[in-house]
Amino acid sequence: MPTLFYTGKMAFPLRLMTTMSGIIAWITGNARDSSAMKEKMKDGYNGKFSDYIHQYDELSTFHYEKIANILLQEIDCKGKRVVDVGCGTGILSFMVLEKAAKKISCVDISPLMLEKCKKKSIDNGYPDDVISFYEGDIEKLSFRDSSFDIVFCNMVLGMVPNQQEAISELARILRPGGTLALSIHGPDHLVEPIEALVKSMNKRYYFTHRFEYWPRDEKKVRMFLIKANLDKIQTKRLTWIDEFENGGKLFDFFASTSGLWWYHRLPPELRSNETEKVRTYFQKNNISKNTCDVIFSWGTKK
Ligand SMILES: C[S@@+](CC[C@H](N)C(=O)[O-])C[C@H]1O[C@@H](n2cnc3c(N)ncnc32)[C@H](O)[C@@H]1O
Repeated sequence: MPTLFYTGKMAFPLRLMTTMSGIIAWITGNARDSSAMKEKMKDGYNGKFSDYIHQYDELSTFHYEKIANILLQEIDCKGKRVVDVGCGTGILSFMVLEKAAKKISCVDISPLMLEKCKKKSIDNGYPDDVISFYEGDIEKLSFRDSSFDIVFCNMVLGMVPNQQEAISELARILRPGGTLALSIHGPDHLVEPIEALVKSMNKRYYFTHRFEYWPRDEKKVRMFLIKANLDKIQTKRLTWIDEFENGGKLFDFFASTSGLWWYHRLPPELRSNETEKVRTYFQKNNISKNTCDVIFSWGTKK
């Protein structure tokens, strides 16, 4: 079961409130409804709550590219069959192709993100036998056992309800001796925008629901990999701060990167006003610093 307790560095009253929200969500059954949780994530990345998702590449590439570079650093992709699960618009997938992989399979739960990935592939002239696209859920993938030499998953697991199932599924499609490479949201990832959001958004629309960005520590991630039958496990937690020009720019990044999935209970007619209000809060309070906290993990299938 993912933790309901928000352990990031938010101010104590806010941590208490989000924890209360998680506990009520657990008692009412909302926190255990994993298909509803996945659905709202999918809706967010399909652009149901905001058009910001169409600016994902423009506003978020710098962030995911930096993480992908660290994840890829010591992996030899040359001639390998690779899968990128939760590929989004394919930021990591195209980096893998540049490292001379034989073939990349791109998987995402959101048809819109996958469509964007496909368009980029066509624009760059990649042939079909080098890149292919699959709509799918990380917890139940359509590939046969041992299909890949390398499995990547870049900043997806923090949004997945059943993380152990997801990691075991990633291990299932990996061949023995193959490499699993994950980056996962750490406890303080995006803590400043999350705190500003919790302060400025109308509470009735998120209270009693669980915050999907539940945090993970390295020990927990290592346990997931051990249970998924991996060895030679390495983990590394890195934190850094990105400084944006102003609060509005940080909000724009935050909204594009998440698809504003926390708006799922907000009536459609209120969405643009709420966005304006929250963005103004970021701007007025100069919420322009963003903590990145990422747990990297690599393992080899036994
Ligand atoms: C923060 S984005 C990261 C995208 C990409 N890996 C990158 O580096 O830019 C998270 C992605 O995970 C996808 N996703 C969320 N839940 C998923 C699930 N259960 N199965 C597959 N993909 C999922 C979302 O649709 C979104 O494209």
